[in-house]
Amino acid sequence: MFKYLDYPAIPKELEQHIFDAVLQHQTDKIFTASENINKAVTETYGTTLNINVDGLANMGIFKDDLVTNWIYKNITKSFNGVHVQYFENGNFFFPHVDLLRSKALNYLLSTANAETIFYETIENIEIKPNSMIPYDSIKPVFKKVIDQYRWHELEVDKIHSVENINGIRIAITVSFI
Ligand SMILES: [Fe+2]
Repeated sequence: MFKYLDYPAIPKELEQHIFDAVLQHQTDKIFTASENINKAVTETYGTTLNINVDGLANMGIFKDDLVTNWIYKNITKSFNGVHVQYFENGNFFFPHVDLLRSKALNYLLSTANAETIFYETIENIEIKPNSMIPYDSIKPVFKKVIDQYRWHELEVDKIHSVENINGIRIAITVSFI
C-alpha cells in the first residue's frame, strides 16, 4: 500500500514556486471536492453521497510545467501525469479509490500533520472510482503521518483517505496508470 522511496528532494526554489502557485489557486480554484463529488455522482456508479459533509476538505489540483519538467529530468520519464495537489478548508478527504490511475508517487511539501489511511471493505462490496465510500462499510488497515520531503509510493487503486488535516496539505503527485 505504502513505501518510501529514495529519490532526490525537490529544490528549495521549486518548492517556493509551488507554494506561490498554490496561493494563486486558493483564490482561483479549478474545482472543489464538492464539485468533484457531484461529478462522481453523475459520471460514475458510486455510493449515494452527501456533498454537504461537515469537515470535508476542498481539493485543488493543477499541472505546472516547471514541476513536470523537473520530475522528467530527475525522477522518471514513464509517468502518465504530474500534478500539484492540495487539501484545504477541512479536516478530511473521504475514503475513495482514484480514477484513472493505480499507483501514485507522492512528495509532501506541507503535511498538515494529516494521516493517510488505507482500508479494506468489511463485506465483499464492489468499489467504484471517485465515489465516497461509507466509513461503516470499511475498516482501516494502515495509518501513517507521511514524512515531509520524502518520496513515497501509494497504491491508489486501494481504498484510502486523508484524515486529521490541520491547515493546508500540499503534495506533488506523479500518476501511473
Ligand atoms: Fe486518492
